[in-house]
Amino acid sequence: MNKDLLKLLDLSRDDITLILDTADRLKAEQKSGKKHDFPSGKTLAMIFAKNSTRTRVSFEVGIFQLGGHGIFLSNADSQLGRGEPIADTARVLSRYCDCIMIRTFEQEEVEELALHSAIPVINGLTDFEHPCQALSDLMTIREHKGRLEGLKACWIGDGNNVANSVITGCLKCGMDVSAACPEGYRPDKQVLDFASSVKDCKFELTDKPEIAAAKADVIFTDVWASMGQEGESEKRKMAFKGYQVNDTLMALANPGCMIQHCLPAHKGEEITEQIFEKHAQEIFDEAENRLHCQKAIMYVLMK
Ligand code: CP
Ligand code: NVA
Repeated sequence: MNKDLLKLLDLSRDDITLILDTADRLKAEQKSGKKHDFPSGKTLAMIFAKNSTRTRVSFEVGIFQLGGHGIFLSNADSQLGRGEPIADTARVLSRYCDCIMIRTFEQEEVEELALHSAIPVINGLTDFEHPCQALSDLMTIREHKGRLEGLKACWIGDGNNVANSVITGCLKCGMDVSAACPEGYRPDKQVLDFASSVKDCKFELTDKPEIAAAKADVIFTDVWASMGQEGESEKRKMAFKGYQVNDTLMALANPGCMIQHCLPAHKGEEITEQIFEKHAQEIFDEAENRLHCQKAIMYVLMK
């Protein structure tokens, strides 16, 4: 593993397997009340320039369960919000803490933080990727299906940060991927370049949800307007009309097809309430697994 977890594009298949296996082990230990084998007293700084429920709580609970301590730093309250350079913040936090998790807009900010940090940096979501989410999704699919290799994943909707990580992660784990995104809302070029370089599984990009959903084993979707894009909501509602996970689309998928949604969901937009509730078990397992996966990432990077 590298020093940091900045994007799934950086991880090898072995790195992903190590994190997923560690997450499974830590989950089993937690459920059985067994103490984790992790040095106590480690401190995680958590920088948030955007809202969060799952990422904040899973990292804060996760570091506590590992015997350490999490410090929440919002941009508004810290000196970052008053313009202190990210490179200086990196050097200061490196003197106090053992790891930094950051949620922000620009991927470049996370890369710069990592460059100037002596301690591991974890991307807790940028406009480019959401690696912690995709790892939790892979953990959940493996838990439900018993394997990843050979399954077909389908992405419906915006080719956003979560799409970039999910497409990359699924392909790296030997899954076929078909993504349905409207023109102008496709995944990042770096991800498409990576996807077209993959030899041992199939990647397909279409603007037709019914093509992407055909014979899928897991269907992913996410909101049509991500954090920072609220001003484009109306325009996006028009662009994504027809990109809804509903009964008609699910009927094209393989029997037992799972749904993964990173949450929060806009029911009635990217997914119907009925399909959401029918697949609530998988979706909330996915949310729970953020905790176990966050712990695994910290374990692998900090131990
Ligand atoms: N899925 C996810 O990252 O949720 P939060 O925005 O609540 O952290
Ligand atoms: N694509 C969403 C994911 C939220 C977890 C966003 O960036 O707002």
